Amino acid sequence: MKIPSFKTEQWMNQYEGRAVYNMTDTCVSPLTYQELLSFDSSHLLSSMKLDYGSITGDVQCKQEICKLYQTGTVENITTAHGCLQANEMVMETLLEPDDCIIAYTPSYQQFTDLPRSIGCRVIELPLYEDDQWQPKIEDLKQAFQHRIKMVILNNPNNPTGTVFSPEYVTALISLAKQNSTYILTDEVYRDPSIPSISDLYDRGISTSSLSKLFSLAGLRFGWVKGPQEVIDAINVRRDYSIISTGPLIDTLSLFALQHQEDLLKRSDILLSRNKEVVRRWLNQNPQFSLVMPQAGTVSFLKYESSLSSETAAIELLQQNGVFYVPGSCFQCESHLRLGLTSAPEQFQKGLALTAEYFH
Ligand SMILES: Cc1ncc(COP(=O)(O)O)c(C=O)c1O
Repeated sequence: MKIPSFKTEQWMNQYEGRAVYNMTDTCVSPLTYQELLSFDSSHLLSSMKLDYGSITGDVQCKQEICKLYQTGTVENITTAHGCLQANEMVMETLLEPDDCIIAYTPSYQQFTDLPRSIGCRVIELPLYEDDQWQPKIEDLKQAFQHRIKMVILNNPNNPTGTVFSPEYVTALISLAKQNSTYILTDEVYRDPSIPSISDLYDRGISTSSLSKLFSLAGLRFGWVKGPQEVIDAINVRRDYSIISTGPLIDTLSLFALQHQEDLLKRSDILLSRNKEVVRRWLNQNPQFSLVMPQAGTVSFLKYESSLSSETAAIELLQQNGVFYVPGSCFQCESHLRLGLTSAPEQFQKGLALTAEYFH
């Protein structure tokens, strides 16, 4: 199976270690192991047997995951190593060569290049910056002239922060219903104020993880929530790839899921603070602009300069230790991906150095 390299991941791999001011991270300031252990009031870890654990995912974890949705039971959930693998499991299970799918651009490369590697035809619909990075319903109707097996979106979207409008989601579901199309929504940046596709549509499949808003990317714990027949089909394939996520990860994840409200609150406080910092900075630096995301942890900063995004990102890192993923990783020049996740003082300093560089 041929697949191109994943541009964002390669960039992070090559440069992130040199960051002094990480201005592009999508994960809210990570929790330490010690902080997570403080949730282990019954000392479950010390008596835990390191066998395979529950094969299709720990039931208590799934019960806690259910609380993040309006509908569904543990039968509608299977676990994975991160949202990345959750997405992969859905696509590998449901997509076949010559299927036609819809994805959006700019977005996460997995949604276009993984289906292509399976042999699917991918129709990429643009998100329009001058319309708050929203897609157009006319483009969607046009694309549905083809027989569409699946629509894949990221809500909120990386890198633009787009939360798809209720009008668009309604139109999408209506077209999908008429055509028996699956809608796979990567909801790794969703907070419970945004409806999940799996609660809105009977062929809606939601994926997520503890990596972003729960600040625990290192656990590599994610899940799929969807129709039971899809979950059953995924579980058949899952036996050939992971067997289980294992009791250590399941138990640590359970602690976090049992404290979901506290962890989401912690993220919300930090993200709101950093949004305020960005607003003030944009007022003082009109050569930059961005669409302030309604939710999620990322935004797409536009700068006024003829410099390529890659040159700007490399020079900012070399000269000041300020780290961004360039727009080129998303086929979108004159932009840098701005994560809203770092400690406010660091974040403020990183923005000041960014303005100085472009001055
Ligand atoms: C849209 C999207 N999906 C999935 C992932 C990977 O998430 P996880 O760490 O849960 O595998 C990322 C990471 O940046 C992402 O932006």
